[in-house]
Amino acid sequence: MFSVKELVDSNSLRSVPSNYICLNNPEDSILYNETENIPTIDFSQFTSSNPNERSKAIQQLGNACRDWGFFMLINHGVSETLRDEVIRASQGFFDLTEKEKMEHSGRNLFDPIRYGTSFNVTVDKTLFWRDYLKCHVHPHFNAPSKPPGFSQTLEEYITKGRELIAELLKGISLSLGLEENYIHKRMNVDLGSQLLVINCYPPCPKPELVMGLPAHTDHGLLTLLMQNELGGLQIQPNGKWIPVHPLPNSFFINTGDHMEILSNGKYKSVVHRAVANTKGIRFSVGIAHGPELDTIVGPAPELVGDDDPAAYRAIKYRDYMQLQQNHELDGKSCLDRIRI
Ligand code: OGA
Ligand code: NI
Repeated sequence: MFSVKELVDSNSLRSVPSNYICLNNPEDSILYNETENIPTIDFSQFTSSNPNERSKAIQQLGNACRDWGFFMLINHGVSETLRDEVIRASQGFFDLTEKEKMEHSGRNLFDPIRYGTSFNVTVDKTLFWRDYLKCHVHPHFNAPSKPPGFSQTLEEYITKGRELIAELLKGISLSLGLEENYIHKRMNVDLGSQLLVINCYPPCPKPELVMGLPAHTDHGLLTLLMQNELGGLQIQPNGKWIPVHPLPNSFFINTGDHMEILSNGKYKSVVHRAVANTKGIRFSVGIAHGPELDTIVGPAPELVGDDDPAAYRAIKYRDYMQLQQNHELDGKSCLDRIRI
């Protein structure tokens, strides 16, 4: 396996190797500048002692999940220093030698630590312009021991991330008209899975010919994402591709497939992708927060009725992850495989 970074570092690349060339539908390259419409959620309002402020924030959160499946989170209390450290340490990991990184190469989705390239090289027809490190960090924490300090930084970061998500999941339960701890209890959130994904997108001489990460939806309930200064994330909430320009020091949070399943389609899992750029290495750090791996997830019975029949069949979270991994990312959501 060649990583993209190795390919870029070892050649002065002027052209793109043919196995990376994606035949994109021209309509898919049209972008709509609507970033300013992306909802912003102020996290400090969730812990406000003013009940009106809290209920307003919960309503905004529900609207964002319903209308967009995506929002920016501000005033979240995670320091800029820690965020910078995570990006720096991620860069440090990808700067290790290929041999050092390959100690973590693996094919199995449930390997505690897995370094790789593209999406799933055993099923990808074309390769994607992206290398990755994936670590299962909860309920058991796993991270590479190199570079020094990386693991400690990540542990601090994922703990903060879990606290934010726990609070948001309470707000989401309430916004669906359910009891505050509904999702926590039903999804075993205390033992919930946290999968950390660090994406490395090296610069590309012809970004329009390749795809960093093609259109997909995320498994899990909520994904927490941050990135370095280079953009590349695009979302497709209503059939139109919108580039995302982050507010300084904000997080992007998107709803995942299991939120769509649990809410019986009330909250949509948003289709998104990442494109390459010519300027420099882009890093993004995502944490997919899901139920405990052996939890069977189906639509909440409280949200199913004569007018709202169950729209998805119930499936164990672990099996759904495997289902997604076994198929190439073809622009469609893996949810289509379990829709009734
Ligand atoms: C992902 C993802 C987007 C990005 O890792 O699932 O969508 O901007 N990443 O890297
Ligand atoms: Ni994603």
